[in-house]
Amino acid sequence: MTARILDGKGIAMTIRQEVAQRVSAFREKFGTSPKLVAVLVGQDPASQVYVRNKEIACQKAGIDSQVLKLDASTTTACLLETLDRLNQDPSVHGILVQLPLPDHLDSRLVLDRIDPSKDVDAFSPENVGLMTQGRPRFLPCTPHGVLQLLDRSGFEICGKHVVVVGRSDIVGKPLVNMCLQKSGPSGPSNANATVTCCHSQTLNLPAITRLADVLLVAIGKPNFITAQMVKPGAVVIDVGINRLGDRLVGDVDFESVCQVASAITPVPGGVGPLTIAMLLDNTLRAAESFHHRAS
Ligand code: GUN
Repeated sequence: MTARILDGKGIAMTIRQEVAQRVSAFREKFGTSPKLVAVLVGQDPASQVYVRNKEIACQKAGIDSQVLKLDASTTTACLLETLDRLNQDPSVHGILVQLPLPDHLDSRLVLDRIDPSKDVDAFSPENVGLMTQGRPRFLPCTPHGVLQLLDRSGFEICGKHVVVVGRSDIVGKPLVNMCLQKSGPSGPSNANATVTCCHSQTLNLPAITRLADVLLVAIGKPNFITAQMVKPGAVVIDVGINRLGDRLVGDVDFESVCQVASAITPVPGGVGPLTIAMLLDNTLRAAESFHHRAS
C-alpha cells in the first residue's frame, strides 16, 4: 500500500480564504479590523520565523497585526506590565506570547496574565477548562488544525481508536481531550473517539500504536514512528517539526510508514500550516465576541 498524502497546505489556504471573507464581513459590520499582537522575547531564530509567518498571514486575511519585540533580558515584571497594557487596550482582540521564553522568565506566570478573552492560543487555565468541559471559547490552534485536517480530508474519528503519542500541554493533552468530546469543531463525526494517550514512559509502545485506526504523533523526536509501529491502513498525522541537518522532518519515518498507512501528512506541508490558519480563526472569534459583548 502507498499512503494518500494529505494536503495540509491546501486545506490551510482554504481555511484562510474562509477567514478572510468573514473578516471582510466583520469590517463592514463594525468599521474596524480584528487585531492580533504577538509578543516575541529574545532572538530565537525559529520563533522569529514563526512570528513573521503569523504576521504575514494576518495581513493577507485583513487582520491587523503587530509584533512587540522585547529584549532577551526583559524582566518578568516588564513583560507582565506589557501584557496588562494589551489586556486593557480595546483595539487589541488577540494576544499571544511566542514560546519558548528565555529561561529566566516564568512562562506559566506570563501566560496566565493574558486576559482569557484575548487568549487566542487557548493556553490559559480558563480556556483549557472550558474546552475540557466541551464548551470551548477558543480551541488550541494546532490540535484544532489536526481535527480540521482530518475532517476536510474525509476522515471521521467517531467510534474509532485514536492513539495520541505525546502529552504536551500545547498538543498532546488538548488533542486527547478534543477527540474525547461528544461534538467536535465539525460536529459529532470528528469527536467521540476511543482515545489512548502514550508518552515517554509507556511500556511496549509499538503494541499500542499498532492498535490505532488514527495515529496522532507529537513528541519532537525525528523519524521516531516506523512502519512496524503502524497498523496497515491506519491514518497517520505527524505534528512533529524537527531539524535534521539542513532538512525538516517529522516524528514519523515518512518513507517507511507510507508503505503501510492509508493516509499520512507530510512534513513540511502537513499540520504546520493549519496552526496559523486556526490562529486567524481564533483572532476573528475574539474580535467578534468583543463586539457582541460591547453591543
Ligand atoms: N511555540 C511553538 N508553538 C507555539 C504556539 O502554538 N503558540 C505560541 N505562542 N508559541 C508556540
